[in-house]
Amino acid sequence: MTVREILKMGDARLLRVARPVTAFDTRELHELVADLFETMQVANGAGLASPQIGADVAMVVFGFAHTPRYPDADAVPPTVLINPQITPLGDAEEDGWEGCLSVPSLRGMVPRFTRIRYEGFDALGRRIEREASGFHARLVQHECDHLIGKLYPMRVRDFRQFGYTSVLFPELDAGDDD
Ligand code: NI
Repeated sequence: MTVREILKMGDARLLRVARPVTAFDTRELHELVADLFETMQVANGAGLASPQIGADVAMVVFGFAHTPRYPDADAVPPTVLINPQITPLGDAEEDGWEGCLSVPSLRGMVPRFTRIRYEGFDALGRRIEREASGFHARLVQHECDHLIGKLYPMRVRDFRQFGYTSVLFPELDAGDDD
């Protein structure tokens, strides 16, 4: 396992549409999964997408018991999600604050579908199908956006609700003030 450098907004590699995984249960894939989790945990992240460490692969990891970056969020099971597909369940959206390890020190208010179904595969090629709502649904939508070259600031509708974490949430030790 290796802690990898997290690319920051402005890097063109964050704007690509990621290539689908075609070979499962390979050494390369398992190594990438381990690197993603290690890098995410060291950064206190709730999720991390392969493009954020420069890997052009349609894979994200997410999950936490408790994260200092979102102290009020309910736990999300640790998950590897490959070649994901998201289907909104209904039209309802809700606004919520988001940050991103590729956009350090900032937060923005982002609309996301309230309820979704997400599907994909784990690293062994086993099918995953879940329904999620609330922060879990938001997290999956945020991470999967990275696979189509979208960073959350591209989803912000009201830039009056976009700013520095230390100003917006001075009580929060977000651990992303680099
Ligand atoms: Ni992100």
